[in-house]
Amino acid sequence: MSLNFDEMTKEELINYIKKLKREHKYGLVWEEKQEDLDELLKDNYPILENVSSKDILDYDGQPNLFIEGENLHALELLYITHKGSIDVIYIDPPYNTKNKDFKYNDKFVDIDDSYRHSKWISFMHRRLKIARKLLKKDGVIFISIDDNEVSQLKLLCDEIFDEKNFLGMFTWVRKKKGSFLSESVRKMTEYILCYRADKDAKIKFYGEKAYDNKWQPLLKRTNSLKTLELKGNVVEATIPDGIYKKGEYGKGGTMVRLENDIEIKNGKVITPFKVTGRYVWTQEKLDNELKMGTRIAINSLGFGFNVFRWDQSFKIKPPSTLINEDVGVGTNEDANEEIKTIFNISTGDNDLFTYAKPVSLIKYLIKMATYSKKDALILDFFAGSGTTGQAVLELNEEDGGNRRFILVTNNEVDEKTERKLKKMGIEKGSEEFESYGVCRRVTYPRIRKIIKGFYVNKKTKEILDEEKLTVTKLKNIDVILQRMEKIKNEKANEFSKIKYELKNDILKLIGENEEGAFIKGYKVNLKYYQTSLLPKNKNKDQMALQMAKVVDDLLCIKEDCYELVKTHESYRIYKQGNKKIMGVYSDFLNTNIDAFIEDVNSLESHEKIIYLTFRTLTRSKQRIFYLVFQNNFLTNTTSDGNPFFTIAGRSVSRYT
Ligand SMILES: C[S@@+](CC[C@H](N)C(=O)[O-])C[C@H]1O[C@@H](n2cnc3c(N)ncnc32)[C@H](O)[C@@H]1O
Repeated sequence: MSLNFDEMTKEELINYIKKLKREHKYGLVWEEKQEDLDELLKDNYPILENVSSKDILDYDGQPNLFIEGENLHALELLYITHKGSIDVIYIDPPYNTKNKDFKYNDKFVDIDDSYRHSKWISFMHRRLKIARKLLKKDGVIFISIDDNEVSQLKLLCDEIFDEKNFLGMFTWVRKKKGSFLSESVRKMTEYILCYRADKDAKIKFYGEKAYDNKWQPLLKRTNSLKTLELKGNVVEATIPDGIYKKGEYGKGGTMVRLENDIEIKNGKVITPFKVTGRYVWTQEKLDNELKMGTRIAINSLGFGFNVFRWDQSFKIKPPSTLINEDVGVGTNEDANEEIKTIFNISTGDNDLFTYAKPVSLIKYLIKMATYSKKDALILDFFAGSGTTGQAVLELNEEDGGNRRFILVTNNEVDEKTERKLKKMGIEKGSEEFESYGVCRRVTYPRIRKIIKGFYVNKKTKEILDEEKLTVTKLKNIDVILQRMEKIKNEKANEFSKIKYELKNDILKLIGENEEGAFIKGYKVNLKYYQTSLLPKNKNKDQMALQMAKVVDDLLCIKEDCYELVKTHESYRIYKQGNKKIMGVYSDFLNTNIDAFIEDVNSLESHEKIIYLTFRTLTRSKQRIFYLVFQNNFLTNTTSDGNPFFTIAGRSVSRYT
């Protein structure tokens, strides 16, 4: 039907324009698909339960978190505990390839399922929507993806995170050669989409040091001729000591003219001198630089200067969109080797977990985003083999950071193993079947080994440093060797042998461990949780009692406060060193409230937090408790300005 604008009133026209503005102009269209989980949540509340036998609590310090279970379920709970508090999310979701890697409603999605894209988009849409809310204002998300869903994901993320928040799409070289059996093209790369949470956040990513130990030439053919004047004992020299006569040196555009004789002694030009050439810097710039600490040197008989900038350690360059071995990032094959080392698999591919990411890739991304945020919190809710956990710990070790991770993974049994187990008559859901799941077989054992340290019974090799030796770099080989020798000394205790290797012009410093070496762990803690369901109960009092039993785990996570110091039939009190006390009162009668307040007050701490987890409070009851607590504590609210929030359908109030 065509519209007759002439006959429309002004109001109708305005409404019509408003409607047009609201309408989606372009973007993704998909069929919203229900998940089985939605059905389950009609009759149950999602909860988290601590599995203390899997906790690793050997040191002081706040723990990393490990959550086993469905991630939608975990994300909904993390929304209660971590809304607006995550610095970096890295995820590597199923790519929905032809190899049945994507399980939807407990079934692997088939290549000829006509809803396969819709199912994937629905699945991602729900999870990413919550993920965004978990990010801090200056938080960022990285999402790995390949050709199969990259276009859909980009449009979906533009919708969820806003196109304005798109920071870039990285290309990661995941294979060195690619399969020659491929029919049309050899696929060697995949992508990583990156968004920030808020358009006002200024995100400064770290790529590399701006002048990473590089001496830069001061001559440029296209510049005009300038005469520079230098004092004695300022210019360093790597050419032989002796007297060099006034005259022209070098050729063409890089020719320079020494305006007087100079003497080089003990690696320094001791004579004051003047020199003319096509220099990039003026005399003023040069003097300023030298004052700040920039070094200047003559490294060849062409007498062109090289400078080593004083500010090189502060200046950083943003990363390029290409991620490959040039920036120290490995491939899928490296990831395979990493898993083989940890699980002592000596030959071939590992059959535990294919397509893990190499630690170096995730470390690179996390370093990029947290270079100046070394206590960042990093979340991966498709943790797979647990690479992100290892990357966080390794990066902290390298730069003295105190980052922590939250890993979430289900206990999926891959399609091949599922078929094998079926043939063996091992029932889905049985303990034996579950022991083949990714979480129990790979993720948790890997993280445990990495934290506790482990023995390897095969040779391990690690590249400690490397440099491509170009002609310019060869001139400064002493600087490169000095750097490598320093690393060699620092790492001497970690390897049984450290050696140099020169191949294809690349000089590598390699650390090797002989058979039976112990790979040392990290002084960090881990708390382990499983997602679970609490059946809804129509009897409000019974429901309140059931909820009271499970609410603590979530509150401990929310307040980062885990040490139990007091238990009572009506309440529990936890502490975080001497920084924080958290009391949880969960009786729906107020009989023991005085004892509770007394106990909380008897403990010394900087901060005290009280949670009341009754059944939904009536206004009058809220008022009574408000008054009781106002006399004892400063009443405060949760971060979004509401003192009440809901756990398992019940209102929980927080006071500080
Ligand atoms: C591609 S892998 C991630 C690999 C990981 N980056 C690594 O380096 O090992 C995706 C993982 O997400 C898990 N996963 C898939 N759907 C999930 C869900 N709904 N909840 C939790 N985990 C899920 C799968 O079990 C799989 O291990």
